[in-house]
Amino acid sequence: MFKTVEWKNNTVVMIDQRVLPDREVYNTYRDCKGVAGAIKDMVVRGAPAIGVAAAMGVALGALKIKARDMKAFKKEFDKVAKLLASTRPTAVNLFWAIERMKRVASDNEGLGVESLKKRLVAEAREIHRDDIEINRRIGKFGGNLLKDNSTVLTHCNAGALATAGYGTALGVIRGAIEGGKRVAVYADETRPFLQGARLTAWELKKDKIDVTLITDNMAGYIMKKGLIDAVVVGADRIAANGDVANKIGTYTVALLAKEHGIPFYVAAPLSTIDLNIKHGDNIPIEERDSTEVTHLKGKRIAPKGISVRNPAFDVTPNRLVTGIITEKGVVRRPYANGLKALFSK
Ligand code: MRU
Repeated sequence: MFKTVEWKNNTVVMIDQRVLPDREVYNTYRDCKGVAGAIKDMVVRGAPAIGVAAAMGVALGALKIKARDMKAFKKEFDKVAKLLASTRPTAVNLFWAIERMKRVASDNEGLGVESLKKRLVAEAREIHRDDIEINRRIGKFGGNLLKDNSTVLTHCNAGALATAGYGTALGVIRGAIEGGKRVAVYADETRPFLQGARLTAWELKKDKIDVTLITDNMAGYIMKKGLIDAVVVGADRIAANGDVANKIGTYTVALLAKEHGIPFYVAAPLSTIDLNIKHGDNIPIEERDSTEVTHLKGKRIAPKGISVRNPAFDVTPNRLVTGIITEKGVVRRPYANGLKALFSK
């Protein structure tokens, strides 16, 4: 099995998701600038995976700080944290992981600089380990919701490639299959970055899970034909009221699911839930480079000078969400109470 992101001999190794499925290339990063660039350029992507990568980037940055006294160390450390926080704005897991690393730094100042560096590396590795465990739990809860012999539509890639391993939405599918159910998958190709075609199709095929690729505009037709029993997607940020920011096009899929009476589930860890954001309108939405829309594999497919929009995420209102599957169980409406309660469980 491939490894999405890994801490290896004080470097961070990541599978380069930009060149999948053509090539399976692993890049090695030796400093926090490299990791920040990899997050920004989508070498690594997917909310939990960028959280893990950011934590490792912070640890790598800390290791490289030359300062010997704690005050000077903390000054440099803050710069490292800021750099990683400036990479992508929507997935809250990134900020969650950086905050966790910052907390470890401030709670352990007494250790002295060298021991604190070791403690930060240990924390980043723990975030990585925990993520796989959390996804397995999401998979168990979510797997119970799927019926035997069912077909699930998913959008983008919320699989092993989007996490430390196993996946959130694809973790639910894996959980159902491991529980003895037969589950087939329809994967939206997910324009413009093609996470569905390039990544979801690749990892499910590798796992010998029955997967059929469709373009995004085929979802309505496929649902109307009665071919989909449930939709399961991941999330980049869930507001306190249950509104869900996820890959652009998710909102359209949710509307289609509603129209066709198909349950629409969101699978995400607690680190994706942002109780500080009351509703989805306040979630920052990343706008990416226009060439992702005007070019395919470096080849122009639209006229030069054309005006382009490229929002990378949209927000699905909570009324369209049947359930949010977390590592602590499945939350249903009213989301405000249910999501809050998860944090005191
Ligand atoms: O732009 P990306 O590829 O980082 O966006 C990823 C998604 O939108 C995923 O669906 C989401 O992060 C859930 S990943 C478990």
